[in-house]
Amino acid sequence: MKILFLNGPNLNLLGQRETDVYGRASLAEIEAKVRQRAGKLGAEIEFLQTNLEGELVAWIQQAKGKFDVVVLNAAAYTHTSIALRDAIVATGVPTIEIHLSNIHAREEFRHKSLIAPVCRGQILGFGSNSYVLAVEAAVNVNER
Ligand code: DQA
Repeated sequence: MKILFLNGPNLNLLGQRETDVYGRASLAEIEAKVRQRAGKLGAEIEFLQTNLEGELVAWIQQAKGKFDVVVLNAAAYTHTSIALRDAIVATGVPTIEIHLSNIHAREEFRHKSLIAPVCRGQILGFGSNSYVLAVEAAVNVNER
């Protein structure tokens, strides 16, 4: 089981950025927790971050044939990107949407996710634990 974790814009600033909303863990610390959980479940992880929408599109495209699941925190692009949604559909790799914060409890413009309808499911609102829970969800993505 190979899982590709993709992180969108400004998530490189976790730990410094809006800590009341996103918590104090850095992205590297979250990655370490994910790797630990994945190791226990026998899954292989790649963990990437970019501030560029097109780079996320390219990575989703490249996941086909290489990864069993994509776990995507598209950050602000969640709410704006038809390109990401199209890439998820085009590649057909099962994708799980995640967020640290509960986007439904925040500003109205965050309530809409353009990628949600083409993802297998969403995990959100659990802070850095959303990432750890996503490992569990990814490993079992084909079980209903
Ligand atoms: C986020 C939520 C988004 O609305 C926001 O733009 C982010 C982070 C989250 O993980 O809670 O950058 O994806």
